Amino acid sequence: MTRYLVTSALPYANGPSHLGHLAGAYLPADIYVRFLRMSGEDVIYMCGSDEHGVPITIKAEQLGITPREAVDIFHEMIHRDFRSFGISFDNFSRTERPEHYEFAQQVFLDLLGKGFIVEKSMKQFHCDRCGRFLPDRYVGGTCPHCGSTKARGDQCDDCGTWLDALELVDPVCSICGSTPVPRDTRHWFLRLEAFQEWLEEWLAGHPEWKPNVLNYCRGWMDEGLRERAITRDLDWGIPVPVEGAEGKVLYVWFEALLGYVSSTREYFRMKGEPDGWKDYWQDGDTRLVQFIGKDNIVFHAVIQPAVLHGLGGYVLPWNIPANEYLNIRGEKFSTSRGTAIWLKDYLAHFPPDPMRYALAINAPENRDTDFSWDEFRARNNELADVFGNFINRTMKFAHRYFEGKVPEPGPAGEAEEALMSLARATRDEMGELIRGFNLKTACLKAMELARESNRYFDQSQPWKTAKTDRTACATSIYYSLQVANALRILFAPFIPFTCERTGVMLGREELHWNGAGGENLRAGQALGSPEILLQKLEEGFERVMYRESGEVSPSAETSVPEVREQVSYDSFMRMDLRVGRIAEVHHIKGADKLYRLMVDMGDHTRQLVAGLKPYYSAVELEGRKVVVLVNLQPVRLKGVESNGMVLASDDGRGRVRLLNPSDDALPGDCIH
Ligand code: 2FM
Ligand code: ZN
Repeated sequence: MTRYLVTSALPYANGPSHLGHLAGAYLPADIYVRFLRMSGEDVIYMCGSDEHGVPITIKAEQLGITPREAVDIFHEMIHRDFRSFGISFDNFSRTERPEHYEFAQQVFLDLLGKGFIVEKSMKQFHCDRCGRFLPDRYVGGTCPHCGSTKARGDQCDDCGTWLDALELVDPVCSICGSTPVPRDTRHWFLRLEAFQEWLEEWLAGHPEWKPNVLNYCRGWMDEGLRERAITRDLDWGIPVPVEGAEGKVLYVWFEALLGYVSSTREYFRMKGEPDGWKDYWQDGDTRLVQFIGKDNIVFHAVIQPAVLHGLGGYVLPWNIPANEYLNIRGEKFSTSRGTAIWLKDYLAHFPPDPMRYALAINAPENRDTDFSWDEFRARNNELADVFGNFINRTMKFAHRYFEGKVPEPGPAGEAEEALMSLARATRDEMGELIRGFNLKTACLKAMELARESNRYFDQSQPWKTAKTDRTACATSIYYSLQVANALRILFAPFIPFTCERTGVMLGREELHWNGAGGENLRAGQALGSPEILLQKLEEGFERVMYRESGEVSPSAETSVPEVREQVSYDSFMRMDLRVGRIAEVHHIKGADKLYRLMVDMGDHTRQLVAGLKPYYSAVELEGRKVVVLVNLQPVRLKGVESNGMVLASDDGRGRVRLLNPSDDALPGDCIH
């Protein structure tokens, strides 16, 4: 038994999660972890939300709420969506916990004491108009490496380079749009160059890592490591724990990486074993496996090992299987272009497993891949036709001809031997593939076995032998059931919910990887009732996620109120009306008419309070497109801030209906 510590990048608590997130760092980790658990390994899976830094403050400003309110909302949302997708974290912590503060501050002081952190004066962009130093992400400009005009002060998303804000060409303050100027400020720096030699040697010891990871690291090493500021002028984050550092916080990346350790500490503390974390983080035999997206490579493969090595006595990453991006129509999922597919929108209409399967098969393991609903539908239907259908037909036959029990078989013939030995070979091959992070190929292998099982079923023709040769029929159903059980096990890391339901039908719950391909079901054992596991999808099925309810108002007599006093064209044009999509519906304590809504406005999410409770259930509202007046002065209703108004029609007699933007209008579209 080997000890594994598996992590997924801590997601920023600054918005809901979309399919790109899921496919990159969470689903692959979950598949891997489920497999390890089934193989009897000692494994824990740690994650949590990343709640500091500019990504959070910018989002909170956009929403008109405090950073703390923002992280509370999004931590919950992210955790809930991942849970619904079956991502089986052992702990999903938060960096906004005192325990994490303490640990991060302790690490800072340790490294300071050891001379790996030094205090220095530096130049940083200051916006004179805003009267503040600008943290990296508050500066935009042109990337000096690739020329993209969408670079930010910390990173260029287009070429993936980690930037220093001062390197940007044509910098602008992203708060007010003016040109910032470099001014002196004091900060603390991590002396990365002190680790260069050691890092090179350590990286050379991992030739088995994915080429994308090694290439990034090589680029960094070749350029030569330099000291990097690990503090920021910001009022949201973990305070720098030295005197005279008021208004300065630890750089989010520096402390977020430590979140893996503090999440583990929290996990063991809650289990009542406060020292348990040390077995995973301080015993050299642990295999630390970190799933991330490619934009996080340098932090995990260079900065983090440097910090952990500087502290001494910590386990270093054993592998960092970084994924490329899942795109949509060749571009990154984008909130502002309305191309992000949110997990919660999908989950409101469809079960998690078909998406897990489709994303596993189409995983961006070695290059960017494209998501499309057509491809998803094909994968969904394949799963239903091949896996679902095999289980279903086998179960039906067992019920129709053998009273819902595993039949007593005759001797296994060549076909049966071949099928069972294929199941065992598939199990072994898949095991190797998953251990080598080739999850996509492993999933394809499971599907091949399901296809072969259907072929076996077709060729043994139990519908004929049921009438002519009962023993032959019993034999084919017996082996079909055994291989159905093998499929349940082998598919379990990929489609756990469906496999659990299959287990209920087969009367088996245990998930031992090595059990796949054995004759685990005894003759005479009772089976559950057959049920359809997976539904096929028709073309255009995805529209339900976007379409409004399309309700037609029943004609009713109305008392039409008088037309109100005229307003000027200009007064009307001052109303800023936009299309939004209701992302979240929350109840407000003590309010029987009001909902608190989080509305996706294309480029930001906005909190509104609306008196819709008497007219709509929360479920009817979630995912619906609405018209929002966005420049209404904020008001507080029942203590909750509302930043705008959702428009609805009212017949004056208690029938209130939301205005429906057209099917193809997108969040953020202006209305005029
Ligand atoms: O890219 C991101 O979403 C970061 N929040 C990842 C942090 S990973 C680690 F530092 F915790
Ligand atoms: Zn400014």
